[in-house]
Amino acid sequence: MKTTLSVIKADVGSIGGHIMPSRRLLQRVAEVVESQGKALIQDHYIGFTGDDIAILMTHTRGPSDEKVHKLAWDAFVAGTAIAKEEGLYGAGQDLLKDSFSGNVHGLGPAVAEMEIEERPNEPFLFFAADKTDPGAYNLPMYLAFADVMNTPGLILSPKMAKGFRWVIMDVSYTEGDRVIELVTPEEIYDLAALLRDPEQYVIESVWSRASGEQAAVVSTSRLHNIAGKYVGKDDPVAMVRTQMNFPATGEILAPYSIGHFVAGGMRGSHNQPLMPVALNTPTSYFDGPPLVSCAAFCVHNTKLTEPADAFAHPFWDEVRNRVAYKAIDMRRQGFIGAAMLPMAELEYTGVMETLHALEKRFIVRKAAAVSA
Ligand code: F6R
Ligand code: MG
Ligand code: MG
Repeated sequence: MKTTLSVIKADVGSIGGHIMPSRRLLQRVAEVVESQGKALIQDHYIGFTGDDIAILMTHTRGPSDEKVHKLAWDAFVAGTAIAKEEGLYGAGQDLLKDSFSGNVHGLGPAVAEMEIEERPNEPFLFFAADKTDPGAYNLPMYLAFADVMNTPGLILSPKMAKGFRWVIMDVSYTEGDRVIELVTPEEIYDLAALLRDPEQYVIESVWSRASGEQAAVVSTSRLHNIAGKYVGKDDPVAMVRTQMNFPATGEILAPYSIGHFVAGGMRGSHNQPLMPVALNTPTSYFDGPPLVSCAAFCVHNTKLTEPADAFAHPFWDEVRNRVAYKAIDMRRQGFIGAAMLPMAELEYTGVMETLHALEKRFIVRKAAAVSA
């Protein structure tokens, strides 16, 4: 019997701007999952990261299961009613379609799912990020699965040394899922050439070449592709299996000590460093900095342990301080150059409208007459 791990997350309203969901909203989401999920799912965990609520479910129905997706959809719809009642900011904002049809792909919520044959012990990590997009995971996943400098397991473990297979999605393509498969270590430079552009090329999944097992999955939805306009950052979720054929938990976590710059933060339109935070942390400075939380679990016979809060350890306090400095330093250059995202990634149209209006005022100087 295979176990399915399904994470479905959405922002359906938050307190004080884009900060965090209210207690009643979270309670309502949990009530629906508990009452309607009884005969459907084996176990669940609900948490928030910034203004996003994630529902992690375990079951045996496989990925994209209509009933499991509808359960999460119904929970977010019920939560939206509370958000509206309480006057929360952005109530129902990620439910982009009026009604549920088949599964939540393309309806707004982010989805990451894996169907696995449980190992005798099955540790995995569940990441949730706010104020950023799915490409935020490109660098940490690359380092964890392909770089010996980060992951000694790639040379220490013969199974890991066989490398990994990567499925990368071109998220700028809106007609369907445009994907490419690459293998490392052989094609590591090709992989890097794609991953260096995290707004277009996004890791969808990673697979062990030694065993064929799936190691990781990332939600790849870009909300603006669904809505046809910017409606907020995608705030991606991801899951990574750890140990044995896969990188160790610490090898997966280590790259988050970099605090690399990602798209996100204020008005979804800036480059800001990614801050690893404890579970259920709200957003703050400059509507950011973009944040990522990590709940570590073991799953056994489809039942989850309680979560271990991977970024709550004192080590990460120092990282957070460094990330805060990076965030403030980048803010010192305000709207100029690297501080703000390129035109296509801005969540607002103001700059484009201004440039359009200024267009007619540009003149091309006549070449000066050359004197004999
Ligand atoms: C993501 C998020 C941001 C906002 C962006 C614009 O959770 O909250 O990406 O969508 O800051 O929001 P408004 O225009 O509502 O201030
Ligand atoms: Mg938001
Ligand atoms: Mg969010």
